[in-house]
Amino acid sequence: MRAIHVGLLGLGTVGSGVIKIIEDHQDNLMHQVGCPIKVKKILVQDTEKHRQIYVDKALLTTDVNEVIQDPEIDVVIEVMGGVEETRIHLLNALKAKKHIVTANKDLMAVYGSELLSVATENGCDLFYEASVAGGIPILRSLVDGLASDRITKMMGIVNGTTNFILTKMSKYGSAYKEVLKEAQDLGYAEADPTADVEGLDAARKMAILARLGFSMNVDLEDVNVKGISQVTDDDISYSKRLGYTMKLIGIAQSEHGKVEVSVEPTLLPDYHPLASVNNEYNAVYVYGEAVGETMFYGPGAGSLPTATAVVSDLVAVMKNMRLEVNGRSAFAPQYEKQLKSAQD
Ligand code: NAP
Ligand code: HSE
Repeated sequence: MRAIHVGLLGLGTVGSGVIKIIEDHQDNLMHQVGCPIKVKKILVQDTEKHRQIYVDKALLTTDVNEVIQDPEIDVVIEVMGGVEETRIHLLNALKAKKHIVTANKDLMAVYGSELLSVATENGCDLFYEASVAGGIPILRSLVDGLASDRITKMMGIVNGTTNFILTKMSKYGSAYKEVLKEAQDLGYAEADPTADVEGLDAARKMAILARLGFSMNVDLEDVNVKGISQVTDDDISYSKRLGYTMKLIGIAQSEHGKVEVSVEPTLLPDYHPLASVNNEYNAVYVYGEAVGETMFYGPGAGSLPTATAVVSDLVAVMKNMRLEVNGRSAFAPQYEKQLKSAQD
């Protein structure tokens, strides 16, 4: 039985989790997909660096072509982050007929349409469940589980780092800078945490959700964004005294063909269900015309929760390969409606 060969771009927080899940769950994975999974090559920046997980050093390379041009590699998993260089790597990998799994919302929010169409042209799958809300299978739920409904609104907490910071500031009076450092040490924050604290990471995720939920292309420039870097200890303690909890809330709503997307610190009454979503956890409400209100909740960042989503995408690719269902370009809107700006 031929193993499925995987090439990994990146072996940091998420990449290490991917290796761990593939190793620890090999029996379960094999049971689901009918063949073993073998990680054949891993792109890193520094092959000598001390790693969070043991891997045979012979697997490591600094030459991306050893991963994306290897004829034996079937699936490329991108967990290195970055946008412009990574876009080129993934376009080249798709042209080399590799299926792609990525956790990269920065990339998918900006170049998602291009990558999905190149994937279709080349008969490849492109899955990116881990790019939004870490371990919560929210993209699958939008594209498959709620496919029959007309989604009108999505609202929630989609950044783990800022939720961790706001939780610790509110519950323990911790200092902003110290908790940010803690979130970085725990692997929740982006390589440059500016994107987390200024709301950009949440904006990218809301753009991806809006695109899939409303089948409309939403540009990041159209998202109104405000982060938490200006939130003070006093803001938090006053709001607590008044019975409110501060959360960074993303909202995407569609009405009469117009879409509005925003991210901003919001005061929620303490009894609101999102007020009790704490630490790195995320939660997203999805409102559908037929289903009404649904809520998705779970860990939004961190090594193993995120890697769970990545490896589940790998399983989906492998099932498609086995069924010879290529070129599905999963998690793409079926068609894109013409976007009317909210100002029209
Ligand atoms: P990370 O810990 O910083 O790891 C990045 C890895 O990629 C490292 O192994 C690094 O190599 C390698 N790398 C980076 N730039 C490279 C380059 N130019 N060439 C070759 N290798 C390169 O990052 P992470 O937290 O795992 O995040 C990875 C991706 O997942 C990002 O897109 C992030 O937004 C996304 N994501 C992260 C989380 C999370 O909770 N952390 C959750 C969801 C999605 P070295 O190890 O040699 O430095
Ligand atoms: N930095 C991101 C967060 C990682 O804190 O939510 C998960 O996408």
